[in-house]
Parts: sequence; structure tokens; C-alpha cells
Amino acid sequence: MMYRTHTCGELRLSDSGKKITLAGWVQKTRDFGGMTFVDLRDRYGITQLVFNMETNPDLCRQARSLGREYVVKATGTVAERSNKNPNLPTGDIEILTEILELLNPAELPPFTIEEHSDGGDEIRMKYRYLDLRRPPLQRNLALRHRMAQEIRKYLDTKGFLEIETPVMIKSTPEGARDFVVPSRMNPGQFYALPQSPQMFKQLLMVSGYDRYMQIVKCFRDEDLRADRQPEFTQIDCEMAFVEQDDVLNLFEGLAKHLFHETLGYEFNEPFIRMPFDEAMNSYGSDKPDLRFGMKIIPLKSGKSQQEIIRPTTGFPVFDEAEYIGTLLAEKCAGYTRKQVDELTEFVRKPQIGAKGLVYVRYQEDGTIKSSVDKFFDATALQTWAEVAGAKPGDLLLILAGNSAPTLKALGELRLEMGRRLNLLDKNRFVPLWAIDFPLLEWDDETQRFYAMHHPFTAPKPSDIPLLDTNPGQVHANAYDLVINGVEIGGGSIRIHDSKLQAKMFEILGFTQEQAEYRFGFLMNAFRYGAPPHGGIAFGFDRWVSLFAGLNSIRDTIAFPKNNMGRDVMQDSPAEIDEEQLKELNIRVDHKNPGA
Ligand code: AMO
Repeated sequence: MMYRTHTCGELRLSDSGKKITLAGWVQKTRDFGGMTFVDLRDRYGITQLVFNMETNPDLCRQARSLGREYVVKATGTVAERSNKNPNLPTGDIEILTEILELLNPAELPPFTIEEHSDGGDEIRMKYRYLDLRRPPLQRNLALRHRMAQEIRKYLDTKGFLEIETPVMIKSTPEGARDFVVPSRMNPGQFYALPQSPQMFKQLLMVSGYDRYMQIVKCFRDEDLRADRQPEFTQIDCEMAFVEQDDVLNLFEGLAKHLFHETLGYEFNEPFIRMPFDEAMNSYGSDKPDLRFGMKIIPLKSGKSQQEIIRPTTGFPVFDEAEYIGTLLAEKCAGYTRKQVDELTEFVRKPQIGAKGLVYVRYQEDGTIKSSVDKFFDATALQTWAEVAGAKPGDLLLILAGNSAPTLKALGELRLEMGRRLNLLDKNRFVPLWAIDFPLLEWDDETQRFYAMHHPFTAPKPSDIPLLDTNPGQVHANAYDLVINGVEIGGGSIRIHDSKLQAKMFEILGFTQEQAEYRFGFLMNAFRYGAPPHGGIAFGFDRWVSLFAGLNSIRDTIAFPKNNMGRDVMQDSPAEIDEEQLKELNIRVDHKNPGA
């Protein structure tokens, strides 16, 4: 007995006359008087089975009784179809079925299992195993597999060893909260799940494994978004005896290889390398989407002393602004009142945070109209238009305020315009390396510095003296790979000197004891011959989702969590038994009476 000789995506006209056996799921059945057709599906495709009432009424009746998603095995002969289906790879043939065996009946699925399902999000998540039968998800997981293979293949040719690091570790702060695991044998003590294998990969460099890689699960208890899951996968890499350029060049090679092997996409030029400051000033983001231009143009900027906007009597928004910048929306002078209002509403959203939007229409007839006509005459507006490079028919969108938040808001508005003007082509990819990040970020709320990347990132050697005088000005040898506005990966050259590392911990507000308690093993290791080293980690789910043209990473993962961090299929997280709690020495304080 053999379940199948072929898959449901395999047979072609050239197989006509062959006796074959297929097994799969019933996609649908159709009755046409004397004939019944069954679409049989597996992950390779769909093949049509035919049954004839005249020649074999029993078998035909059996076929008619099949329900959706029944699992069956069919044996028959491949024949040319009279009514070909050009949309199916198997559409030229059908199977004249001779034997039909029901392997397992199925309950009616709660949604249609087709390219486009009729099921809502929630129900498809609950029955994820059924959703996973749908072709789009199968394509995503196949792409994910292909990419993982190519990554391993490429890095193997470059001498990388895949080494597994532990999943039960001591808490490593990387910016998010840890998920923790209680230890039964060590009452009152907890492991943390790794936010990344950062310290372990650095230790492997100390141990002499100069090229390490791992496709590895990481865990972060942070607020979830479309591009974040609480458990996600990194392509984690580290190299010894390298400088920043060595790392960027090697992983640019990996990126190009992946693009080529999985999408057939070629890059002939090196990736752009853009300093952080330039990215912020021109795009209002450290992950600019370079599929379109529309750079931010400063009209008043404390830093460059460029002040094109003269003071007014009565328009404090501009007079008091530290920074004023504009976007040039080509051919948008004809925007209606409603369209401008929508944009104003967009920038006023709390997450964007601008107070309002000033527009200047450079109309087709050469005249200029703006929302600030009261305060500025035609010559003034003309000057702005010139500085922005506007032509008749263009629209200027201007925001004013403090530098950093205004640039950020302009960056968001730029993306919104990109969406509205259909400039975000999913089939085009524009990668860049964002480089020269600041080492530290000041937090007003807690009144202290945080590491912009992580505490192990090395300052640029020329900036080291600033650590004592002006830490906020220190730049790091840190870099991100950004593609189409998505942060695909990030890394840095690391500190390998235990004294410098100790100083970093001090700047970050750790006392010596705290640093010793949390990172003592790493600092100790650095005393035993740590080579210069650096590395990077890519968000694998994000990379797959970018290649698959998805807006969220969820459907690159077989069993993802929802935006509350729940697996709605398993219904987890869940409470555990009293007995388990007791063994773990844990008492739960049920704050939520409903829980
Ligand atoms: P970082 O924290 O920048 O660096 O993470 C590297 C990449 O991982 C992806 N990523 C995520 N993807 C999905 N869900 C999440 N919650 C999530 N968080 C991060 C992003 C990000 O660029 N140890 C360092 C790397 C290094 O320095 O080598 C690290 O983890 O694509």
C-alpha cells in the first residue's frame, strides 16, 4: 500500500496516461449531473479528480459525499482536460479516478481554506493549524525555510560556525524587560530568557571561535507592534579581529546573496552608508525609507544657522520655533481642503505630536497661497518655495517646533505622503547602512544615560576623551541595516577592554557592585585575552516579512502570538497548578479578581 505516487502540484500534460495515486485534502466538490469534480489539495497544489455517474455510479456517489477538508486517497489515470484551467499549474489535466479511499473525515472548518479566506483574524488565529493550510502561509513558511538555508550556506562558506547558546540565562539588559523562569532547585531564584545571545557570543570570541553564527530565538517582554513579537528569531553573528568595515562588507555580501538566491534581485552598487545625523536631518528617522526622495528641507535650523523665515509680528509658532522644516510634495498644489485637513489631523495624532501643519500652494498659474498669508507676503513665500526647489503645481508642507520632535514628525509625514502618492513599491528594495549612531541617549524622565544600542558597544576611538566631558556627544561604532524603512538588523564593534567596559557601566549608572553582579563574568573574561571583536544580529522574521511583501511579521511565524502576547490557539499564557507553584516556592498575588 502506498499513500501517494505524486503530489497534488506535480502532474502535467506530459504525464497523460499514467496510473497515479494522490493523497490530500478535499478543497471542494462540484456536481454537474453525470459528472462530479473534486479538487484535491496538498501544500504543492491542487489537482482535479473526475468521477463519472454513468461508468461508475457507486464511486461517483462516494465522491459526492465528501465534505470540505476530508482526507482522501485517490488512484486513477492522468488525462487531458477538455476544459483547461490556465490559472492552475496542473490545469491541463485531471485524474479519471478509479479508487477512492477515505482516510479521515473532517468537521466543517470554521472558515474557507483558500488563497483569500472568509475568516476574521481572531478565528484564524484560534484555528491556526487550519489557517496554515492556506497557500499564502505555506508560501511564507517555505520562503522562510529557503532563506534560513541560504543564510547558513553563505555563512558556512565564510567560515562561520553555528554554535548554540543557552536559553536559560542570567538577565541581560538590552532595552526590554526579561521573561523569567523560576528555578525549583534554587528556590526564590530565576533564570531569564535571553533578549539576545549578546554576552555569550562575545565570550565565544574570547574563546577563539572567531566567526560565530546562530539562527536563534530571542525573548523580549515589550509592547507589541506589527514588527515585534515577544519571541522572535535573530540571525545572530559575531566576528573577532574585525573593524566596522569588515563586518559591513561581509554582511552586505550575505544580504546580496539572499536577495539574489531567494528573489532573483540584483544589486550592482554598494549599499549606501548614511551617518545617523544625516538620516535624522534629511529623513527624520534613523531608518529612512529610500524608495523615494522627498528629503526634509530646513527653513530655520539652529544648527546650520540657516534662517530663511524672517521674524513676524504675531505668529509665535514660527517665531519661537527652534526648527522649521518643509517637505516638497510635487504636483500636490491641487490638494483639496479635505486632503490638507487629513494631513493636519495626521500630524496632530499623539504619536506624531505636531501642533499643526502649515501649507504653501505654489499654484499652476505661478501665484502662491498659504495658510500663513496673514503673516508673510508673496516675496517671503516665494523665497521658501525657491529654497525648497518647488515648481508651479507643488505643495510645501511645513512643521515647526523643537528640533528633534519636529524632524521626527516630518519623517512620519514624509512616509504618509509616500503612502498617499504610492511611492512605496513593494517590489523595489533600497537598503542602506545607518552608521555613526550616538553611543548614549539621555532620558529626561529618569535623568540618566541609556546605551543607544547596548552597553557593550564601543565608542569611536577618537570620541573616547568626550566620555568624561560630554558623553552625549560620543559617537559609536554601531550600525543598522535598513531596507525600505525597516530596521532589519543592528550591531556594533564591541568594547574588549575591561577598564573601558567598567567605565561604560559607570556612565550608565551601575554601581561597581551592580556591574560586578550582572556582568562580572564578562569583565573577568576580558582579562584573559579578549580579541577585538564585533558583530550584528538581523531580525529574521522581519527580513522574511519584507521579502514576502507582508505588513506584519506575524505570518512569517507558524504559531505567533497576538498583540497581547497571547497564543489564542493554546490559550496561553495560563495559570499553573497550585502544586506546581508550591514546588517553585511561588505565591501568586491575584491582583485581578477576574483572573
Ligand atoms: P537589536 O536589539 O537591535 O540588537 O536586535 C537585532 C534585530 O532584531 C530584530 N528585533 C525584533 N524582531 C521581532 N520582534 C522583536 N521584538 C524584535 N526586537 C528586535 C530587529 C533588530 O534589528 N545583540 C544585539 C545585536 C548585536 O549587537 O550584535 C541585538 O539584539 O530586526
